[in-house]
Amino acid sequence: MAGESDIPYEQVLENVRRFYSESMIDHAMNPRNVGELPEADGYASDTGDCGDRFEIWLRIKNDTITEARFWTDGCAAQIACGSTVTEIIKGKPLTEIHRLTARQVVNALGGLPEENKHCALRAVAVVKEAVKDAILNGREPWRKGYRKRQG
Ligand code: FES
Repeated sequence: MAGESDIPYEQVLENVRRFYSESMIDHAMNPRNVGELPEADGYASDTGDCGDRFEIWLRIKNDTITEARFWTDGCAAQIACGSTVTEIIKGKPLTEIHRLTARQVVNALGGLPEENKHCALRAVAVVKEAVKDAILNGREPWRKGYRKRQG
């Protein structure tokens, strides 16, 4: 009996293309801005109902996001949303982030299936929390030393 690993790669990709856009597949397979940002100015994380974790780190200069990174152990859609949202927010002033929406992330990905839209919502919510963290750290710099990465 043929196992999943016997299915040719091209056929697997063809199946995936029926559900996901080229942009979504590209961001999932070649994610941008992955990994922890040491000494980040802003940080936030969330563990979803599915049990998967999503984290964001921000570097801020002159009230502008100069660097953004993410990490997740979630699904391909969550990886693509993390990759895309970090690309969208780089170079943006902090004052613009409250206007960021999941729809912007979904549109930048060329659409997402309904069942994956919560991944975009979560990516945006965690970015907004990381911005709040950065603003608080700017006012109370000692906070950064006490920040803990939650397990
Ligand atoms: S992040 Fe858990 S299902 Fe997508």
